[in-house]
Amino acid sequence: CEKSKRLVDPKELVGSELSFITDNLARLLESGHPMLNTVSRYYFSASGKHIRPLLVMLVAQATSIATKRIGRTSILVDSETDHIDYSLIDRSASLNISSDFESDKSNRLIEDATRSGHGGRPYTPHVTAGLTILPTHRRLAEITEMIHTSSLLHDDVIDHAETRRGLPAIQKRFGNKMAIFAGDFLLARASMALARLRDPEVIEIMASVLCDLVDGEFKQLKNLEDEDAPMARPDENAFSYYLEKTYLKTGSLVAKSCRSSAILSNSTDDIVEAAYIYGRNLGIAFQLIDDLLDFTVSSAEFGKPVGADLELGLATAPVLYAWQEYPELGPLVARKFSEQGDVFKAWELVHASKGIERTRELARHYMERACEALAIFPPSSARDALERVALSVLTRTK
Ligand code: FPP
Ligand code: MG
Ligand code: MG
Repeated sequence: CEKSKRLVDPKELVGSELSFITDNLARLLESGHPMLNTVSRYYFSASGKHIRPLLVMLVAQATSIATKRIGRTSILVDSETDHIDYSLIDRSASLNISSDFESDKSNRLIEDATRSGHGGRPYTPHVTAGLTILPTHRRLAEITEMIHTSSLLHDDVIDHAETRRGLPAIQKRFGNKMAIFAGDFLLARASMALARLRDPEVIEIMASVLCDLVDGEFKQLKNLEDEDAPMARPDENAFSYYLEKTYLKTGSLVAKSCRSSAILSNSTDDIVEAAYIYGRNLGIAFQLIDDLLDFTVSSAEFGKPVGADLELGLATAPVLYAWQEYPELGPLVARKFSEQGDVFKAWELVHASKGIERTRELARHYMERACEALAIFPPSSARDALERVALSVLTRTK
């Protein structure tokens, strides 16, 4: 993960695909009730990061050149990096290269690329059947964003959130009932879109994410006052419980969206597994940074209130590390920071400790595991962009 400077900007590769997402989602959320339309589209009106759709698109591109079906199509190679140049593929795709492969126009394009882009070295354009992003990948990108947003609609009710994406939280604006209905509706439309993919493996994987989300939330709720509770002391057990919860509430959707994207590309099993491992590690790193930002950025920058986890009684990684240095945090964690001054004291101890630094190091560890998983992908601009997404997680501020 060290060559970040050279890495391709993900938005250059799939930015145009992502720009359609908001409109497509608005269409998918059409109902007979104007109010339901307004509420279910509310969070999409603010600019979300679209990280999950971005990953689906990039994995689609990165894996479409590692498919089981060996067909005859073009691979156009970038002269500098020796990597596959998707901008050329996209151009050739618009010439409908799979069916016009023998046509003069397409052949000329391939010859040009061979001559200028591949140093005159002959190569055989006999590699894959799938050309980058398929309509099923686009649907998957919409499905993952709908599942994510539906979980946020419910989460904001549960967490009594004040703001999200710089807007008043959904239930502050429309009330609890509307927020829950909108969350259910998004999930229902996501399920319909998932069924329409007609891919039983992807349907099962994405449905299992819903169980994981609830499982993760339940793990988070578990009573900390019990002496045998996994988070009764800041030891290895506490960290493994916290990390499992982190995978379930955040990593699972990311990991299984990446896996599903590779499956839709008809990738080989090892590539499908690598896509999953990439997403799993990236998702955990992403949530670790989320837990850290709760202590370090301003609410305006974050788009949601900071210090919120302590207010909710949650001991995340920065607190667990701080607790190892300052045992006096123990009683505060046990009573979920419920007494007057607890939140403030915990905040101060986290900042006095190495908790924030160590959380960033832990996130870096997961980010590096994510990058390692990409090693078996064929070299391509999309693979580089996936690496860049992983790197950017560590420096994000919102
Ligand atoms: C945000 O976490 C919330 C989640 C990642 C998942 C929430 C899941 C549920 C409420 C289970 C129900 C699921 C569905 C699909 C309806 P957070 O509260 O730590 O983050 P925040 O600061 O963004 O609120
Ligand atoms: Mg929550
Ligand atoms: Mg929340």
